[in-house]
Amino acid sequence: MSDRRAVSDRREAALRRLGLVPSAGDLVRVALGDALARAEAARAEEAAAPPAVVVLDAGCGRNSALARYRAHIGRFVGVDIHEPAPGALPYLDEFAAVDLCESSDAFPPATFDVVLSSFTVEHFADPDAAFANLARWLRPGGSLVLTTVNRRHPFVAAYLRMPDGLRRHVQPVVKATAADAHPLVGACNDPAALREALARAGYDDIRVVTVGHLARAWRRRLPTFVLGLVGDLLTRGVPSRRSTLVVTALIPGPDA
Ligand SMILES: C[S@@+](CC[C@H](N)C(=O)[O-])C[C@H]1O[C@@H](n2cnc3c(N)ncnc32)[C@H](O)[C@@H]1O
Repeated sequence: MSDRRAVSDRREAALRRLGLVPSAGDLVRVALGDALARAEAARAEEAAAPPAVVVLDAGCGRNSALARYRAHIGRFVGVDIHEPAPGALPYLDEFAAVDLCESSDAFPPATFDVVLSSFTVEHFADPDAAFANLARWLRPGGSLVLTTVNRRHPFVAAYLRMPDGLRRHVQPVVKATAADAHPLVGACNDPAALREALARAGYDDIRVVTVGHLARAWRRRLPTFVLGLVGDLLTRGVPSRRSTLVVTALIPGPDA
């Protein structure tokens, strides 16, 4: 195991000992497991539907929480505004360069059973357009699983309010590499705004859970890990102000 990985694992273990559970990752794994099981069951009931589940990682970057479910996925598509390096995302069947905030016919309506949008919403210039695209591409009864930052957390608010020039200096300190430091907008980054935007786009059964995630997100360097830990502990008892939103939503099913 690399030194960096060992440090990261030790910090994760410390957070668990401090009771900072579940993590955003834990919640996403449960949500994706449920969404995939629901999709498999729905396809099994539809005589005409091919049995294999079709998923999209919308803003797939360089990691996907869906990759661990590869054995349960028939077709795994990723989209992003940036092309990945050749061979960088071996779990994908297809990659398409798509700006989710532009009106897009990149996929036919009702293509996907499950869409994951992991820490992308904070970058969206036009979240309404992005949510409408994803809603159109989801099958009736399909699931959206989304994580993003909550500007009701004081550190997140300060980060989003920073002038672009200053933030460009800070981002590489908290991110793994400068390549992970994407421009930030934060147009609908609080629980109420996100819920309203998803409802406007036609999603149903919208569930928003908040979780402290700063220490984990910033754990690569000790000073930012400690700062993140302070941020997580500060808001631990105030759910609406925790740093991170984990959201699930459904497209109304055929019987709705
Ligand atoms: C913070 S990274 C998250 C990457 C990955 N989902 C993860 O969880 O590790 C944000 C990703 O969203 C992508 N992105 C930002 N705006 C986008 C847009 N309008 N359309 C498609 N992708 C976008 C960025 O290029 C980047 O890969």
